Formats: sequence, structure tokens, C-alpha cells
Amino acid sequence: MLTRLLLFLSLATALSAQDGGQLFTLYCSACHGADGNGATGGAFPPLAGSPWLKGDGERATKIVLRGLEGPIQVLGNRYNLAMPPQSAVLADDQIAAILTHVRSSWGHAESPVTADQVTKIRAATADHPMPWTPEEILHLHPLPLEKTPLKNLTSQVFLGDWPQLPDLSKLKPESVEEEHSGILSIKQAPRKDHFAYLWQGDFEAPVEGQYYFLLDADDSARVYIDGKRLLEVRGIGAMDGTRKKSSKLKLTPGPHAIRIEFFEFMGNEGIALGWKGPKMNEWEWLSESHTSTGPQWPSIPIEPSVDRAVIYRNFINGASARGIGVGFPGGVNLAYSADHFAPELVWTGKFMDGGHHWTDRGVGYEAPAGEHVVEISNESALPAGAKFRGYQLDAAGNPTFAAQVGSATVLDAWRPAAIGQPALTRKLSVTGSGKAVKIVLSDILNAKATQSGDVSLNGQLFIHIEGAKASTTGEITALTLSPGQIATLTYRWNP
Ligand code: HEC
Repeated sequence: MLTRLLLFLSLATALSAQDGGQLFTLYCSACHGADGNGATGGAFPPLAGSPWLKGDGERATKIVLRGLEGPIQVLGNRYNLAMPPQSAVLADDQIAAILTHVRSSWGHAESPVTADQVTKIRAATADHPMPWTPEEILHLHPLPLEKTPLKNLTSQVFLGDWPQLPDLSKLKPESVEEEHSGILSIKQAPRKDHFAYLWQGDFEAPVEGQYYFLLDADDSARVYIDGKRLLEVRGIGAMDGTRKKSSKLKLTPGPHAIRIEFFEFMGNEGIALGWKGPKMNEWEWLSESHTSTGPQWPSIPIEPSVDRAVIYRNFINGASARGIGVGFPGGVNLAYSADHFAPELVWTGKFMDGGHHWTDRGVGYEAPAGEHVVEISNESALPAGAKFRGYQLDAAGNPTFAAQVGSATVLDAWRPAAIGQPALTRKLSVTGSGKAVKIVLSDILNAKATQSGDVSLNGQLFIHIEGAKASTTGEITALTLSPGQIATLTYRWNP
């Protein structure tokens, strides 16, 4: 036994960086399969095609070094196992060789991982308790969005005040767009209420067999495949899983014409379309939003502590991709966009539920868990050329976001207001030199001055401003600050 072990070890140490394939066979294939499809008939998760290997190599490096334990989902199947850490067994150049190999095998075309990168990650995670939990690793390295089987997808948008899903073939669209992401999204809808969407394209069935589809909508939606109506959610109502419909049909491999109709009356809006092919145990999504699929994700509420805010960096419904969620003590919440230097959403009550992102591969947008969600802005709040410079947290976890505009820096500090009702305080200041900076407060809401001089946004949110004056032109409400000037804004919800 001892000789075998020694032989094994010396063989491994003798293998150098060129032998990524051989090292993979020795150290990974027992569990992940020689063909990368997961050993023992798929009891272990696959590496071939796995989004966990894609994008930045850091996620996989951290997993190999420190292991992974807990519920995960890979390519439509769920696992809840443990991968032992390899940091004591494999040297940095060996890990680099293995990861470079698996990131360029089975049709993958990801960048190589260098020994130097592994050395740095090993040092940076040296005192990390092993293994990682999926929540932790996905929080640090969310999975890349995957391509869906929707090909040649186009979307058409219609505006009208219909009481139910109209016959879209008789209407003239406001706009037509190609949707290369293959994802149904209504984020770009020109207005919040009274619109409809028609998506058309091909559902590319990967293999022959039985396919399941699941549809939910707020308000109505229909799905046709190969010209036949497959699913319909009728009437007006919430997308909470209580009105969802599912259906199945046999498909041959290759493209099948798909047509999805959707209509929003008033209030909240959403469409969720899931699919499940042969040998898939879990639903995959063709839409940005998801709905309950029966046994739901375990709920993992993310909450601030009594005296400290909590940060959540993941896709939040209604915020841009680089949304930074902040849940403050006292039930006030913010989604700030690093792309747009702007508060995009504020809401009260519960902050976020991480269950979906952390157990379902982290794909898709998750809606805020609380109430009184107000979407404040969609576009950049600062002039073109502005750069996001990160954020700092004070002792209570309250963020100050920084952005650079020319030679000036805009600081945007948020904290809960202490006025006995849900409210947020925002301190805007400009430091450095240069011209005054125009800062957009809202670019989608109807702004009006109230009697007390506050700004009312759609009557949903009131902003009290000190140290500057806001002005409104069309849908844009903004204020202008010179270097050295400070404005304090208090955001209150209409109770
Ligand atoms: C003893 C079995 C075992 C070995 C050896 C092993 N893994 Fe894993 N690996 C697992 C298990 C089990 C999981 C899933 C853990 C979970 O469910 O939380 C996993 C998950 C992963 C994941 C993320 C999920 C996925 O399927 O993409 C990656 C990446 C990975 N392993 C890479 C490797 C590489 C590279 C090696 C070789 C250096 C390796 N593993 C060696 C068992 C193993």
C-alpha cells in the first residue's frame, strides 16, 4: 500500500504543466468522469459544458484549492455533495495545468489559468475554512449567463389599453428588436403599464424526446410551438405561481417555431417561461424572471442586523446588471447601479431572498423581497464619461459610492433616516475641481413640487432636499452641485 501511494505521489509530482490532461485523469476523473460528464452515470456533477468553469478562472481555482460542499445545480441537474479540497495534494502549476486543460476541453474555449494566478489565490484564501459553500462562492463569483435554446429571437412591443391579451397579429408594433441573448425580457418596455410583447424565434431542441414547458405571467401570456397553442395564462393577476400552467410535448431535435405573447395591464408585470428536456431534472429558464416550480428554492432571507446594513451583489429585478443591493436596518432598502451611478430601486420591508440565486446557479433576476418598490431611474445619473470608483462602508455598513466626472469626484452616501418611519438619507457632495456636476435624481418618474417644497415622484416617494434645488424638465429631475457643495436628500415613502 505504502509503495503504491509513494509511486502515485512521485508520478504526480513528476508531471509538469504540459500534462494537464494526465493530471485531470489522475485527480479529477474518478469523480467527474474521464469524459467530463460526471462519474458513475452522472452521480457526480459534469465538468463538460459546466458554467462553473466558465468566465473568470478564479471560481474553479478556489473550488479546486478549498473544495465545495452543499446544494448546487449544473446543467439542469441538482447535486448536494462534497468535493474534497485539493490544496494539499496539488501544486500550483499542476492546478493551473488541470484548469487550463478542462477550460479548453469538450468545446470550451476559456482563457488559460496560470500558476501565478493559483499562487495568488492560494495565498489570499489561505485561512479560509474549507470547503466553500455554494452561497459563498457564487456570491463572490456569480455564474455567467448561459445561452438558451431560443434562437433567432425577435421581440415586438405594442402599446394599448386592452382589458385582456389582444390579437397581436392585428396590431402594429411600436418597435421590433433582435434578442441575441435568447431571453424573454420586458425590462426595456417603454412604459410600466398597458403594453404587450410578441416574441418569435426557434426553440432549438437539443435531443429527441419529451419536453416540458412552464408559463407564468403578470398579467396574461400564451405560448405556441410549431403553430399550436401549448400554454396560456389568462386574465389579470400576479406571477406568484398560483396561475402558472405547464404542458409537455414530444420534439424532434432541431429548431421548432416558437411564439410567445404577453400582455401587461397595470401594476406589477412579469413573464416566466421554463423548460425541461429529456434527462433534465430541473427547470431551465427562457425568461429573465422565474416563477415557483412547485418545490421552490429554499428560502434564504438576507437581512441586515439591528445595527448594520447588509450588501447583496447579484441580479435584482428592476436594477441594471451591476446592481448593488443594500438592506439597511429599519426595513429600508436600495439597489444602486454601478453602471448608472444611480439609485435604481428603493423599497421597504424585507430586503432580498438569496435562495434562488444561491441554489439555482445564480442565474436570473430576483425581485426585492419587500414592499413599496419604487423604480427611480433607468439611465446614467451622471454626464457621459463618468467612471464608477467603488464604494466604502462606514462602521454601520452604510455605503458611500464614488464616481469620477472629469477632475471632480461625486460622493453619494446613503443611510437609514432616523425619523420614525421608513426613510433614507442621501448625502451628495462633489469634491475636486472643475465645473458643476448635474446629477439626475429620476429619469422615469413624474416629478412635482409639493406644498412643503419637497419633490413628489409619482406621488409614491417624496424627496426633501437641503443644500441644493432640484429642477424638472420632462421626465428628468436633476440637481447641480459645484465642487465643495453638499446636498442632503431625505427619501420618504407615501405611507
Ligand atoms: C472525490 C471526488 C472529486 C474529485 C477528486 C474532484 N471533484 Fe470536483 N466536485 C466533486 C463534487 C462532489 C462536486 C459537487 C459538490 C457539491 O455538490 O457541492 C464537485 C464540484 C466541482 C466543480 C463545480 C461544479 C461543476 O460540476 O462544474 C468544479 C469546477 C470541480 N468540481 C472541478 C474539479 C477539478 C478540476 C478536479 C480535479 C482537480 C475535481 N473537481 C476533483 C467531486 C470531486
